[in-house]
Order: sequence, then C-alpha cells, then structure tokens
Amino acid sequence: MSEKNPYKYNGDTLVINEETNSNATKSVYIESYGCAMNFSDTEIVASILSENGYKTSNDMYEADLILVNTCSIREKAELTVRKRLQKFNKVRKVNGNLKVGVLGCMAERLKHKFLEEEKIVDMVVGPDAYKDLPNLLQEIEDGRSAVNVILSKDETYGDITPTRINSNGINAFISITRGCDNMCTFCVVPFTRGRERSRDPQSIIEELNDLNSKGYREITLLGQNVDSYLWYGGGLKKDYSKASEIQKASSINFAKLLEMCALTQPKIRIRFSTSNPQDMSLDVIKIMAKYENICNYIHLPVQSGSNSILKAMNRQHTREEYITLIENIYKIIPDCSISHDMISGFPNESEEDHKDTLSLMEKVKYSFGYMFKYSERPGTPAAKKLDDNIDEIIKSKRLSEIVELQQKHSLYRSKQFIGKTVEVLIEKESKKSNLNWAGRNQQNTTVVFPKKNYKIGDFVNVKINDCTSATLVGLATGYSKNN
Ligand code: SAH
Ligand code: F3S
Repeated sequence: MSEKNPYKYNGDTLVINEETNSNATKSVYIESYGCAMNFSDTEIVASILSENGYKTSNDMYEADLILVNTCSIREKAELTVRKRLQKFNKVRKVNGNLKVGVLGCMAERLKHKFLEEEKIVDMVVGPDAYKDLPNLLQEIEDGRSAVNVILSKDETYGDITPTRINSNGINAFISITRGCDNMCTFCVVPFTRGRERSRDPQSIIEELNDLNSKGYREITLLGQNVDSYLWYGGGLKKDYSKASEIQKASSINFAKLLEMCALTQPKIRIRFSTSNPQDMSLDVIKIMAKYENICNYIHLPVQSGSNSILKAMNRQHTREEYITLIENIYKIIPDCSISHDMISGFPNESEEDHKDTLSLMEKVKYSFGYMFKYSERPGTPAAKKLDDNIDEIIKSKRLSEIVELQQKHSLYRSKQFIGKTVEVLIEKESKKSNLNWAGRNQQNTTVVFPKKNYKIGDFVNVKINDCTSATLVGLATGYSKNN
C-alpha cells in the first residue's frame, strides 16, 4: 500500500514518540513492533510511566530508559527486535547509566531467558504486568534485573487512560478484549497474551466519550477476536457458562457493544479489528448496516482456502461456511470491503491446497490482504505435532502468487470507486505531495485529493477520478453531512 497507514496491521512497524510532562525528571524512549494491540499497549505504558515521573523522548541517546514493545508472531519479528537491541548496546557505550526493558509478546515468550540471551536487557515485562512497572523500575534502578511475566485472568487496563503518543489527534484505538482462547495451531498469541477476557462496557464508553471531547473523529475497537466480546458482569470468556441466568440475560455481546458505541457518539466513525469468521454473527453485520457511522469494512482473516489445512490449523469453520458468511455480508452491506490474512506453506500444504487458497481469493475478490509465509513458532501445537516440511522456495513461490492475485483484486476493487463520491476523513498530508490531503473512505482505502481549504479532521465528500491498486485519487466536492 503506497500510503502506509499506521492504524492497521502492517508487519513489524517502528514508532518513535515524544510527549512532555512538566513534572518529569527522567526520560524514556519507546519503540513498538507488531500489531495494533502493541501500539495501544504502548500508550498504556506511557500513561503509567508519566504518572511515575517519566516523559517520552524521541532521542534514544538522551533517554534514561529505553523500552521496546516486542512481537513474536513470526521469527522475523523477533529477529528485528534482537537487531535493535544491538543498536541499544551502542547507546549504552555512550550512556553507561542507560536501562533497557523489553515488553510484550517476546518478553512473555522468553521470560528469564531474555536476560541470559541478551545481556543488554535489564527488565522483562509481559503484556499483563504493566501496572507493576513502577516497582520493576525501582528494582533496576537499584542495580538488580527485574522480570514480571505473570498472565492475568482479569487485567484489561480498563481504568487507565492511555497517553495518545502515537496519535494524530484524529484516530485512536480502544481495546475491548485481551488475550485469545482459540488455539489456532500456528499461533503464539494464546501463549503470550493469555486467556480471553472482555472489558467492562462502561469503561469502553467512558473512553469513547473522553476521545470525543478531545476532538477525535474515528476510533477502532481492538481485540484479537472482537466478535467474541462478551460482558456478563465479568469478562473472562471461559467462565461465562458459570454465570447466573440473570447475568446471561443482561449480558452484552459485540453486536450490542457496537450499537452502544454508534449511538453514544453518532459523529464518531467506528471501525473494529480483528474479526474471527467463526464468531462473526449476522447481528453484527445488521448493526453495521443500520448505523452510518460504523465503517463498511471487515478484516476477516481466513489463513487458507483449503478445508484440510483449516482443520490442521484448528480454525473452527470450513471454506463453505466462510463463503456463506461472505455472501451474507455482501447481501446485507453491498458496498462492504473485506480484507484477509493468509498463510502460505503451512505444514503438509499441497499444491492442491494452495490452489484452493487462490480460488477462494478469486471468489471473494478481497479489497486488501496481509500475507505471510508460515513461520514455525516454538511451543505452538503445530511446532509440537507437525513437521515444518514445505521448502522455503515453495513457500515464497506460493506467497508471491497470493500477493500477485491480491494486487489484481485490489485494483479491481479500487476501480469500482471511479466516478463515485466517497466520504473521507482527512488524516494527514499525502506523502507524495504537500498540496494533497490523504485520508480513508469507509471501506478503508486511502484517498488522495487537493487540499483546498479543508483541514485535518474534516469529513469531506471526494469524487474519485483515478486509482492505483492501493490509492484512490479524486477531488473534494464539499463537507460530508457527518462533518
Ligand atoms: N486474531 C487474529 C490474528 C492475529 S495474528 C485472527 O483472528 O486471525 C495476525 C496474523 O498473523 C494472523 O491472522 C496470521 O495470518 C499471521 N500469523 C500468525 N501466526 C503466524 C505464523 N506462525 N506464521 C505466519 N503467519 C502467522
Ligand atoms: Fe492467533 Fe487464532 Fe487467536 S490466529 S490470535 S489463536 S484467533
């Protein structure tokens, strides 16, 4: 995608942030890698640190503390972090007092081993342990190393107002669930982020109202599996069966939460990610259709188009069930855009399985895709039971066929907008020209157009006259009625 968008999965991304706090006596430099949840967590960490006398800095050479929020999803993501740690080693040669902490999924996966494997690391903190940071920082200041990788069954950080250091003041994330109970056989997330739990809807709505009062125009509800959101007075998914009949009757599922958000702030545009096909209900699709401020876009990872591979991955649906879901989406929301995640070269994937993936893509004609080579992750069920037996060259060849087909479909979807008028939220200046604004339409496609007198944060109607596979080009015709 030519206009890289930091508000969605885009692989192993780096962010450097700066924020001032007049009471701060120390400074922290933070980098985040991986998924949107990590970016969102970094804002929680920044908030906790700011309460404890730290300001964020964008100069690693000036910082007292470097934190890196890490990703374990593929081997490459981990290697990127290890390389950054070598860089921080050079910084320590200049600043002998520098402390270095690792956060996130790699911290959870490697635990104490991190301290042995990477001598630069002083502190290891898992995704559910950030509230312990003040104590852990005291430990390392006293010259000891510190580790907290305890996973929680109820921590959602619902009571912390994130410090929006990654933000443009327009788009923000609100996390609604943490963890995942699904156990897809290839995936390390259930091991690094623990059991699935939903956050109290009251605190979600409070965060939404707070963002509105600060001028934000679009929010993304975030979770590994947002469609399985469930609040019944408690939020731990696996204990729902133990809830009383009264609790069950008044429980709030994702469709209800989405409706509450849409009604509470009708002027705020709402997105959500990620949907797991097994949990996406017709109710959610109907709520999307009912409210104009819920964007007509669904990220619906499928991973493979082959039933036997889906089964080996422990995905809880078949190819046919997935196609029925897609048909229902297009029936209820004809202009909905759909994107996917796809993995090439899962153990035992045959040429036939790969062709099934291509034919599924042909059927759906996704607007976007996030496509990966299978990367065996230590400790996962696939790593334990299945041989990583697809040759790297074959994995790469299949991946490039998937990517090529996706580009064709993205262009096909983009072209469908030519001649139409779409509503765009202006987010930033176009990277290619300072005369143009860039934003996204509801369907999550980047739109570029001449600035005129509009400003960042405006909702405008743009008539599309040209496109590439990733970007729509047009002319603004006025403010949209949402503005
Ligand atoms: N919760 C999301 C996915 C989270 S991980 C879901 O419902 O699917 C984001 C994506 O990374 C996954 O969808 C998958 O395509 C990819 N991924 C996860 N583990 C992987 C692995 N071991 N090798 C390659 N890609 C992987
Ligand atoms: Fe991973 Fe599957 Fe959960 S991909 S995050 S185990 S839905």
